[in-house]
Amino acid sequence: MTTVVRKAARPRPVWHPLPVADVARLTAEAVTITFAVPPELRAAYAFLPGQHLTVRYAPDVRRSYSICSTPADLDKTGKIRIGVKEVPGGAFSSHGVRALLAGLSATGASVADVPPVADVPGAGVVTAGAVLEVLPPLGTFTTALDPARTRRYGAIVAGSGVTPVLSLIATALATEPASTFTLVYGNRATASVMFADELGALKDRYPARLQILHVLSREPGLSPVLSGRLDRPRLELLLGGLVPRDIEEWFLCGPVGLVETARELLKPDAPTADALAADALTADPPTADAPTAIAPTANLLDTSLPTADAPDTGVRSGPVVHTELFYAGEPPAVVPTGASGATGQVALTFRLDGRESSTTMSRDTRVLDAALAVRAELPYACKGGVCATCRARLTEGEVAMARNYALEPDDVAAGYILTCQSVPLTGSLTVDYDA
Ligand SMILES: Cc1cc2nc3c(=O)[nH]c(=O)nc-3n(C[C@H](O)[C@H](O)[C@H](O)COP(=O)(O)OP(=O)(O)OC[C@H]3O[C@@H](n4cnc5c(N)ncnc54)[C@H](O)[C@@H]3O)c2cc1C
Ligand code: FES
Repeated sequence: MTTVVRKAARPRPVWHPLPVADVARLTAEAVTITFAVPPELRAAYAFLPGQHLTVRYAPDVRRSYSICSTPADLDKTGKIRIGVKEVPGGAFSSHGVRALLAGLSATGASVADVPPVADVPGAGVVTAGAVLEVLPPLGTFTTALDPARTRRYGAIVAGSGVTPVLSLIATALATEPASTFTLVYGNRATASVMFADELGALKDRYPARLQILHVLSREPGLSPVLSGRLDRPRLELLLGGLVPRDIEEWFLCGPVGLVETARELLKPDAPTADALAADALTADPPTADAPTAIAPTANLLDTSLPTADAPDTGVRSGPVVHTELFYAGEPPAVVPTGASGATGQVALTFRLDGRESSTTMSRDTRVLDAALAVRAELPYACKGGVCATCRARLTEGEVAMARNYALEPDDVAAGYILTCQSVPLTGSLTVDYDA
């Protein structure tokens, strides 16, 4: 192993201890956690609506949570808020939240006997001094808002998928006085609707510019089309009826099935993530003459069509569709093509914080795991291809990614990879976490 020191091009996201100011119950299964951001860290935690924080709990439980508050809230109050829905048995959403609610220290070590989240009374009071380690905001599930712009936004979400969209709705309608937002929001029943009051308040504030369609699967909704699961037939009905047809920019967030179905309906010509996930990614930039080995849209996040930032040519082949997945299920069992069966060690060089380190790895090891064995401070969270915290730029060699639900096509085309999903296809690799 060798180490060379150079100047870092961009600062690595660094963990900071943030005081927990408040834990408030939203539903029987969900809470908000509010962090007080000290003045000296306000710039580091400035965020765009739709971005997420990463929380470190217990020795090595790292979980991402979308920010439900707005950038304006942070400016005004110095606070930043996330929404957490309980996954039964979950290390943070269940055990960690129960510990906070019960006033235990947030170590994750002593919560075995704490009752389920729904049975812990008195949400809103946290042990004085409760602190969680938190990474600054990350994520690309956002858009460049502009007061001069008039845009029709839409979102299709389910359950906790509303969290980033709450911030997007509040910020978009406040920033762009002529824009509108339509929200299609699926839940089991009224009692499980996260942020019902805040959405109601936004509707009161922007009655003509905000449309909210609650779809309930286990309770009659306002009409038959709003009663039942948010499956393909219901989405088709909604998109062909109650939802305006001229929505220009969509945000999809929820279970993978919902997000993929909605995206297929909104962008029928876009390739699926599965079809493209295992394409080889090389460090060679694409040229005008040569076909590229870099997958053009190797993820679900389709920004290949006009984006908010792109000059408006007047030609539109469909809406812009942003997607965010919280969980993609169990990792793919199969190591991508070309990796298994190959022999010999691979020379891996990587750069982080301006320091270059080298090691060797086997062909079926993920790049992140090999690099972590040398430098434990490398950034990562989900290790499941959904959060992009482990993103780095491939500058030499070729890899295959098992899964990519996080990088934008532009990022992939520029050589960025999810190192937690990448296995080597060549005898040497160089990746740059500072790029
Ligand atoms: C970018 C991003 C943003 C996110 N934003 C939010 C948010 O705003 N609110 C929120 O509540 N969650 C959000 N999540 C999900 C969150 O990070 C955790 O995955 C979730 O809270 C479960 O963590 P845990 O430690 O409680 O469960 P774990 O201990 O990780 O998992 C327990 C069990 O549940 C399964 N599991 C894990 N996650 C899920 C899931 N989401 N659905 C179903 N089964 C699961 C696991 O396979 C495991 O068997 C987000 C994730 C990402 C990547
Ligand atoms: S750690 Fe989340 S995508 Fe790699």
